Amino acid sequence: MFDVNKIRNDFPILQRKVHGYDLVYLDSGATSQKPESVIRAMDDFYRNTNANIHRGVYEMSVESTLMVDGARKKVADFIGARTEEIIFTRNASESLNLVMYSWGKDNINEGDVILVSRLEHHSNLVPWQELCREKKAELRIIDVDSEGKLKIVGGEEKLYEEGGLRVRLGSLDKLVDAKVKLFSVTGASNVLGTLPDTLTMIRMIKERSPDVKVLIDASQMVPHMKVNVTKLEADFVAFSGHKMLGPTGTGVLWGKKKILSKMRPFLYGGDMIGEVKITGSTWADTPSRFEAGTPDIAGIIGLGVAVDYLENLGMDNVREHEKELIKYALEKMAKLEEEGLVKLYGPRDIEERGGALAFNVINVHPHDAAQILDSFGIAVRSGQHCAAPLVTSFGVPAMVRATFYVYNTKKEIDYLVDKIREVPKVFEV
Ligand SMILES: Cc1ncc(COP(=O)(O)O)c(C=O)c1O
Repeated sequence: MFDVNKIRNDFPILQRKVHGYDLVYLDSGATSQKPESVIRAMDDFYRNTNANIHRGVYEMSVESTLMVDGARKKVADFIGARTEEIIFTRNASESLNLVMYSWGKDNINEGDVILVSRLEHHSNLVPWQELCREKKAELRIIDVDSEGKLKIVGGEEKLYEEGGLRVRLGSLDKLVDAKVKLFSVTGASNVLGTLPDTLTMIRMIKERSPDVKVLIDASQMVPHMKVNVTKLEADFVAFSGHKMLGPTGTGVLWGKKKILSKMRPFLYGGDMIGEVKITGSTWADTPSRFEAGTPDIAGIIGLGVAVDYLENLGMDNVREHEKELIKYALEKMAKLEEEGLVKLYGPRDIEERGGALAFNVINVHPHDAAQILDSFGIAVRSGQHCAAPLVTSFGVPAMVRATFYVYNTKKEIDYLVDKIREVPKVFEV
């Protein structure tokens, strides 16, 4: 049974007040709150076990190593992967950059194409811009329609050439040919909530470019729905641990073993080597090859416990809960839109979207709106949400964004809607 009130009791931070009001945390898209079990596991590690992994034969070091190995197994099972395919990173940005440095630099050449979408977080756009510029490859970007869904066919095509980077923007069918070597796309938009149909797109691309590699930025997917990497038909999947109830400083890259085994390391140093001689070195196999230096041991252990927590809730229940919340929020917000109070962005069909709600209060700057909501204890984000090309394509400099997770309630949405009504009143003279 998914009992949101019981779940809320597991998150100590939800007891706090903000400006004298109960906290209404609607920014889990940026980072989620952490349950007591995760906080305790990390605290317990530092109090009772703290020792570096892989480097000692003494009991505490062996225990630490086993705990990290255990967390890797939990994450692997959570997404239907093999343990040696799970690489721990600091965050999703590092996971995406790892693919760019370790795979991209050796496999993208002049004239090749990298295909992304306008929905991307900067972390899945900027690395590819830089690689394309360096390699004289072309960056192609699937555009969005007025609802924020990816354009599959038709429409205009645009070409930009600036600072040594060639960018083509248009619908998927116009952008795919045999030159596409990498398709790197978000599984869920962090701004509009859009859930692109990645499977249909991947199959369409593979028909024209069978050797294409596929990278899914699943940062807003893995925390919110059941994900099985095999079913995604991807080669790499990147996500953050800290958005799925785990600690900050944790991220994950999953990659197919046969591809990872051929990739060069990302960082060099301790723990990632095979043999080191004064004249040169060889590399360990995956995942160690990509995990140089001391990892965030406590964080990884905490992430394992976060996975336990989500497994216990059941990811299908998590998705159902969020669908209910977003449906409820969209209905309420649509009324405000009819009244001319707000403008909503993103798909309206809840089957095609996750729990991110982007809006603006008419004639109020989003930063002002977010600050006024904060004065009532509501934590929402405002700005471009690290997706400037997406946000500005809607003709606005910024948006307010509320994101929902396992601990949010309909009552909180009622409160948000009530307080949005207050926002314009602040500016009345
Ligand atoms: C879709 C998406 N990709 C990538 C990132 C970057 O994640 P991190 O901050 O863990 O690097 C985020 C963070 O908001 C995101 O929402």
